[in-house]
Amino acid sequence: MTTKEVLIKIVLIGDGAVGKTSIAKRYLGKEFEHEYIMTVGVDFFKKKSKIAIENVGEIDFVWHIWDLSGQPHWRHVRPTFYRGARGALLVFDVANKASYDDAPEWAKEFVKNAGRYPIVLIGNKIDLRESVPDCTTKDEGEALARRVAQIVDTDVPYIETSAKLGINIEDAFTLLANLVFKKIMDEIKAEREKS
Ligand code: GTP
Repeated sequence: MTTKEVLIKIVLIGDGAVGKTSIAKRYLGKEFEHEYIMTVGVDFFKKKSKIAIENVGEIDFVWHIWDLSGQPHWRHVRPTFYRGARGALLVFDVANKASYDDAPEWAKEFVKNAGRYPIVLIGNKIDLRESVPDCTTKDEGEALARRVAQIVDTDVPYIETSAKLGINIEDAFTLLANLVFKKIMDEIKAEREKS
């Protein structure tokens, strides 16, 4: 198989301040910022990375990462930003129960505006478990992933990250890359079988 670049648009979604921008910036190799700078509408990041795809080998991905503001204020402008997205990282904050409860609504917004494309659910800020009582547990995260899976109508993996400490960030993108790649291949196969 010749190596080609696969260009993929994904969105980072979830409530405000859960760490979406921090996750994107970590993936881009930037320093973690402690200060909260609210995303105004949308941020856009581009990154090339070689990713190991199961049963295929290494593929060059060109990520177009659209980091959507989680603030309710931007709800009305978000739909246009979803167009063409082939996957989503849906983030909640393990120390913020409301962001956990809101995750299914984010999945619905994604399906409505982008379609039934893969979602990876991320429980971020796991470093806070040491200092904040009653954080969401791994089991609760996995239970939420099963609820989100029913909305997207496909398996939704759950992964726990800390953008602050740089834990599992690469793995979250690798998981999504594998799911998106498989989905694209399945679509191509289905198209070929039709013609
Ligand atoms: P919106 O722009 O409102 O949608 O927010 P966002 O989801 O992009 O959150 P952002 O990345 O701006 O992070 C919000 C705050 O959480 C910032 O103060 C970050 O420093 C902090 N933060 C992000 N990730 C982590 C993490 O893993 N651990 C801790 N302790 N703080 C984090």
